[in-house]
Amino acid sequence: MDKYEKVFELAKRRGFLWNSFELYGGSRGFYDYGPLGSTLKRRIEQIWREFYVIQEGFMEIECPTIGIEEVFIASGHVGGFSDPLCECINCSEAFRADHLVENVMDAAGTLSADALTKVIRDYEIRCPECGGEFRDAYEFNLMFKTTIGPGTGRQGYLRPETAQGMFVDFQRLSRFYRDKLPFGAVQIGKSYRNEIAPRQGVIRLREFTQAECEIFVDPRHKKHPNFERFSDKELVLYSQEAQEKGESFRMTVREAVKAGVIAHEILGYNLALTNEFLTKIGINPARLRFRQHLKDEMAHYAIDCWDAEIETERFGWVEMVGIADRTDYDLKAHARVSKTELYVYVEYNEPRMVTRFAIKPNMGKLGPVFKGKAKNVADALKQLSEEELSKDEIKVTVDGEELTISPDMVSFAEETVKVSGENVIPHVIEPSYGIDRIFYGTMEHAYDEENVAQKAAESGLKGMEDADSESRAVEAEGESDAEAEEETRLVMHFSSAVAPVQVAVLPLLTRKELADPAKEIVAKLREKTLLVNYDDSGTIGRRYRRNDEIGTPYSITVDYDTLEDRTVTIRDRDSMRQVRAPIIGIENVLYELIYRDRSFESAGKPFNF
Ligand code: ATP
Ligand code: GLY
Repeated sequence: MDKYEKVFELAKRRGFLWNSFELYGGSRGFYDYGPLGSTLKRRIEQIWREFYVIQEGFMEIECPTIGIEEVFIASGHVGGFSDPLCECINCSEAFRADHLVENVMDAAGTLSADALTKVIRDYEIRCPECGGEFRDAYEFNLMFKTTIGPGTGRQGYLRPETAQGMFVDFQRLSRFYRDKLPFGAVQIGKSYRNEIAPRQGVIRLREFTQAECEIFVDPRHKKHPNFERFSDKELVLYSQEAQEKGESFRMTVREAVKAGVIAHEILGYNLALTNEFLTKIGINPARLRFRQHLKDEMAHYAIDCWDAEIETERFGWVEMVGIADRTDYDLKAHARVSKTELYVYVEYNEPRMVTRFAIKPNMGKLGPVFKGKAKNVADALKQLSEEELSKDEIKVTVDGEELTISPDMVSFAEETVKVSGENVIPHVIEPSYGIDRIFYGTMEHAYDEENVAQKAAESGLKGMEDADSESRAVEAEGESDAEAEEETRLVMHFSSAVAPVQVAVLPLLTRKELADPAKEIVAKLREKTLLVNYDDSGTIGRRYRRNDEIGTPYSITVDYDTLEDRTVTIRDRDSMRQVRAPIIGIENVLYELIYRDRSFESAGKPFNF
C-alpha cells in the first residue's frame, strides 16, 4: 500500500471519509465526511474564517449554489469552462486527454483538443483500462446544468466556483463598505464540476467545498497597506522562469516583489498569508511551494496566478489554492451582460483642475425637436464620453429611446473644471482555496508510522514500557495487552488547532470510582469548549493507540492514585511522554497546551512508573 491508500484506509476505518452512496455501489467523485472528518473539515474552515474574516476583515456572504444562465454567460463559464475529453472506442471509459499525454510531453494542459488528439495518435496511446483505441478528443463543459422552475423553466447551472456570487453582489458590497477600496468578501460553500474522470479521492470531486475571497482593489496602485507584516517571509517560489530550469528557489516576499517575480505587493501578501494558513493547519512547509501559472495555462480571467502546491506521495505536487489577479475582467463582463455600470467613485486627496473636451447642447435647436424631453437629452449629452462624442453620429438614450443628435444641435469647447474624484473599476485579487484537497493534504502530511521503542528512546523514555506504562498497570489488574507491545504505532500528527478530538479522557477501568472523576474532567474540559472523547473500552495501551490514530494530541488517564491525591496522568501524543497534574485546574492546563503553546514539560511533574 502506498501512503494514499494507507491514509484512505485509516480515513474510512476511523470515520473521516466514506464513499458516498456506498449502499448503492457508490458514484465516482463524491465523498461523505464521517464524524471525525466533518469535525476536522469544519475546524480547517473555522481557521480560514479566523484568517480572512476576523484578521483581514473581509465579511462572509452566502449566495445560492444554483445560478441563472446570464451569470455564467457573463463569467465565461458557458463558453469556455471545459476540459478535453477522450473516450475509449472499446470500453467507453472517459479520460482527460491532457492527462493521457502527460507522460509523453510537458505542459499537456496547454494543448487544444485537436493537438491532444494528434499526440494520442502519434504516440499510439491506448486506453489504460482495456488497451482500446480512443475517439477524437473534444472540449467537455464541466458545469452541471439544471432547470429552474417547472415545465421548460429557466436554464440554470450549479455554480462551478463561489466567486461569481461576490461579483454579482458587487454594488451591494461596495455600498456596505461605503465605497472605500480596498474591500473584500468571502464565501465558503459547495461548488460543482462534472469532472471527466475523478479518480483521486477528495482531490478531484464533482461536489467540493471552496473557500474563496474576492478582494476589490484600486488598479492604479497595487500596494498592500500591511505589506510589512510578511515582507521578510521567505517563500518557496516556482516562477515561470524557474519552471524552464525545473528548479524552485527561496526568496523573501519583499525581494520577489522588488525583482518583479511576484507582480505586486497585494499578490505577495496573499501568497504569504496562504503560506501561513497552510502551515498553521499542519501542512509540512518543506513540502509546500508556490507555482506560477505558465502564460498559456492561465484561466481566461487572470493576468497572473500562483498555485500553492503541496507534495503528495502518489500524485506529486497538487494544487491546494489558486491565488489570481483577475483584473477587472469579471466586473466588466457582468457590467456588459447586465447593462449596469459597476465601478467605485474614488475621491482624490486634493481636487484637481482638469482641462477637457466638453459638449455644449444648443437648447434653441434641441427644444423644437425634442420638446419636453429636450432637457433630458441635454443632460444625457453631457454624460457622453469623449470617444462617444467623437463618433460620426452622436446618439443618446432617453427614457429607453435611442435618439440621434444632428451636428447643429451641439457645439464643442475645451473647459477647465475642478474634479474631486473619478470612477474606477476595481481589480480583483482572489485567493481560492479547495478545502477538500487541503483536508487530504493535512491528513497525508500528518500520517506517520513510528517504531514505538525508537520513539520512546528519542523522547528520553526508558523503553516502550515507560511510553505505555499504563499497560503494565493493566496487566497487574489481570488483563493482557498484547497490542500495546506491538512494534509500530500509526499516528496522525494533527496540529492541535485542527485535531477533531483534542483530549481523550480514559478511566483506567470502567469501575464507578474511576468513571466518576473521569466524567467530572470531561465536563470541565467541555465547558472550556475543548473537543473531548471519553473512552473506557479496552486496555489503556489500546486506547492510546486508537487516539494516536485519530490524532488526539493529549490523553488524560484517571487511575487509583487519582482517588488518593486527585492527580491524573496527561500523555503527549507526539513524544508519548507523561506528566502527573492535579485535577483542579486541569481544564486550564489543557486549554493552554492546545491554544497557548504551553510547553508539555510545564504541564505537571514528569511521570514514569
Ligand atoms: P485542477 O487544475 O487541479 O483541475 P483548477 O485549476 O481547475 O484545478 P481552480 O479552478 O483554480 O482549480 O479552483 C480553485 C481551487 O478549488 C483549487 O485550488 C482546488 O483546491 C479546488 N478544486 C478545484 N477543482 C476541484 C475538484 N474537482 N475537487 C476538489 N477540489 C477542487
Ligand atoms: N475561483 C477560481 C476558480 O474556482 O477557478
